[in-house]
Amino acid sequence: MSTNAAKNLFIYGSLLCFIVLIVLTIDTMGTLDKRAPVITDKVDAGKKVWHKYDCIGCHTILGNGSYFAPDMTKAVERKPKGYLKKFIMDPRTIKADSAMPVLGISEQEADDLIAFLDWIAKVDTNGWPPKPILVAAAAGKAATPGQVLFQQNDCSACHQIQGLGGTAGPDLTRIGLKQADIEWHIKHLKNPESVVPKSAMPDFAHLNDEELKALAEYMVTLK
Ligand code: HEC
Ligand code: HEC
Repeated sequence: MSTNAAKNLFIYGSLLCFIVLIVLTIDTMGTLDKRAPVITDKVDAGKKVWHKYDCIGCHTILGNGSYFAPDMTKAVERKPKGYLKKFIMDPRTIKADSAMPVLGISEQEADDLIAFLDWIAKVDTNGWPPKPILVAAAAGKAATPGQVLFQQNDCSACHQIQGLGGTAGPDLTRIGLKQADIEWHIKHLKNPESVVPKSAMPDFAHLNDEELKALAEYMVTLK
């Protein structure tokens, strides 16, 4: 390559890259506002509570924070708000050995936090953080109707079976030994508080009798 050709390649190459950069920047700036919902007063108040209790000292959010506790970016997507609220106000009512301290958060503060977490979850993060892949990998192995329902209803967002799944609710690996009564499980799924006082487990009353029975039958086989 002659010196002249190299010079041209450098100049026009740089120019082209620069133009591409400008076009992409304009495109990004144009869509930025559309990537997050409107910030209401409640969301704003929730963010202040988030800072007040230094939640980020343990949790990550939008890629920032520490790795001691689960990521909060999409927390409201997999778990009902009533459950999250209970957890925030008193983690030990949900998980007896929870590593999250009781921070003394008021009802109002908890509601604001949920509004903030709801807003965060709606921010378009290009699919970050990635969905847990372990659960999807286990899906291929599903055999009984109860196992399929367990996955379809995302029970593993809160429960582990043989090491797969969330840790907020009790481990279900041997639930059949602890609770062998199918009727108990059906009642528990329909209305957890009818058998476990102050239960934070969401109800699955929208499932039909056949589905509830299949799930309950699956539960008692876990030994
Ligand atoms: C000292 C560390 C620490 C602080 C501070 C902390 N958390 Fe946690 N949090 C945890 C841990 C650890 C867990 C995981 C569950 C467990 O092991 O108890 C958790 C779990 C949670 C969960 C339930 C997550 C799930 O997937 O079920 C929510 C919601 C939550 N934290 C919100 C908050 C909010 C909001 C704040 C600030 C007001 C906060 N946390 C402050 C340690 C902390
Ligand atoms: C948002 C979190 C969450 C989801 C989702 C969830 N659970 Fe739970 N589950 C809990 C919590 C918290 C408890 C402890 C309180 C209780 O026993 O009701 C619990 C308790 C249980 C128990 C009793 C465990 C024991 O050791 O006594 C069973 C069985 C159970 N869940 C099954 C299920 C099934 C099946 C699904 C899906 C259809 C499901 N759970 C979905 C949070 C959840």
